[in-house]
Amino acid sequence: MSKRRTVAVIGLGIGRSHIDEGYARLRDQFDLQVICDLNEERLAAVGDEFSVPRRTTSFDEVLAMDDIDIVDICTPPTLHFPQIMAALAAGKQVICEKPLVGSLHEVDQLAATEATSRGRTMPIFQYRFGNGLQKARRIIETGLAGKPYLATIETAWLRGPNYYAVPWRGRFETELGGALLTHAIHSHDILTWLMGDIAEVFARTATRVNAIEVEDCAVASLVMQSGALASLAATLGSAKEISRIRLCFEHVTFESSLSPYAPGDDPWQIIATSPEAEARIAKALEGFKFVPSRFEGLMAAYHQALETDSPLPVTLKDARRSLELITALYHAAETGEAVVLPIGKDHPKYRSWRPAATAPR
Ligand SMILES: NC(=O)c1ccc[n+]([C@@H]2O[C@H](COP(=O)([O-])OP(=O)(O)OC[C@H]3O[C@@H](n4cnc5c(N)ncnc54)[C@H](O)[C@@H]3O)[C@@H](O)[C@H]2O)c1
Repeated sequence: MSKRRTVAVIGLGIGRSHIDEGYARLRDQFDLQVICDLNEERLAAVGDEFSVPRRTTSFDEVLAMDDIDIVDICTPPTLHFPQIMAALAAGKQVICEKPLVGSLHEVDQLAATEATSRGRTMPIFQYRFGNGLQKARRIIETGLAGKPYLATIETAWLRGPNYYAVPWRGRFETELGGALLTHAIHSHDILTWLMGDIAEVFARTATRVNAIEVEDCAVASLVMQSGALASLAATLGSAKEISRIRLCFEHVTFESSLSPYAPGDDPWQIIATSPEAEARIAKALEGFKFVPSRFEGLMAAYHQALETDSPLPVTLKDARRSLELITALYHAAETGEAVVLPIGKDHPKYRSWRPAATAPR
């Protein structure tokens, strides 16, 4: 029989969705014992809504609870690094929201710490989960898609003054970035998950929608390691919100649903180039089991990985790849030059991708 894992959720903004879409639906796998937030009203509201037995405002108190297996960190971005390090030191399994940490240096420190820790860290990329996207992944993994040609990735969302009224948002010091880091990071993770590593990046950013410091519009032009090309477009000023992932391969083109916050869900269009390719794809999808969307799919896969001691559904390496892209995008936008990956330890942005003009004097 599988082990029911005890969980503590830290931070109850998106943390509430981890509970609602994940732990509350997967009660055989997870036992949500503790919630923690500095905001007492949130603590009481979420605690009552999901009948959570223990509620605290102290992160340290959670780490001292010997019966808690998993600490799920959903606090503002600059807290992630110290809180993950402390949770690993306390022997916990760790889940943490995006952006995982604030630099390539930090993610490398985490990897070194994890190597000697009891627990592992799963970064959050819940947009990978959804039936349509998972079918595409299966087809690509089995080698049926063929040579990658071109990807078009759009993240067109809407954010206004209410969203930016939350004090940590909108500034590099506390949010660490804008539309590229906070919003489009999901679609860009999907791009690399399905089409592989990136070789070169050019980008432009602008702040046009909101009175904020970080960017809310961005475009980028990428060369993948395979030689395929990709274009990225992100804005927080789109009256109609969509996420769109369009991937053209030799034998098949994939087109996502336009659902802004669950682009992995069906309907995905899977359009084969020939009847023969279509038949091969249909065969590869025989017996394909439905994959639930977002946090439900992710947390179910996470539990399975813990049970079998196999690789986590999202790894530190995945988070590193997304942060390497961010570093390259911000550096390209700042310098007006193309950036070649990988970004090494001697790169000027290895310790912080923050544009020089926004750094404290
Ligand atoms: N995966 C996604 O789709 C998604 C969506 C939204 C936000 N996020 C990410 O989740 C993180 C949180 O974002 P949010 O929108 O929920 O923010 P939020 O400000 O709404 O919620 C954060 C909560 O953390 C609490 N908190 C702050 N410091 C704390 C501490 N030391 N101990 C305990 N609680 C503390 C705050 O009181 C607040 O309630 C960010 O990194 C954000 O980028 C991810």
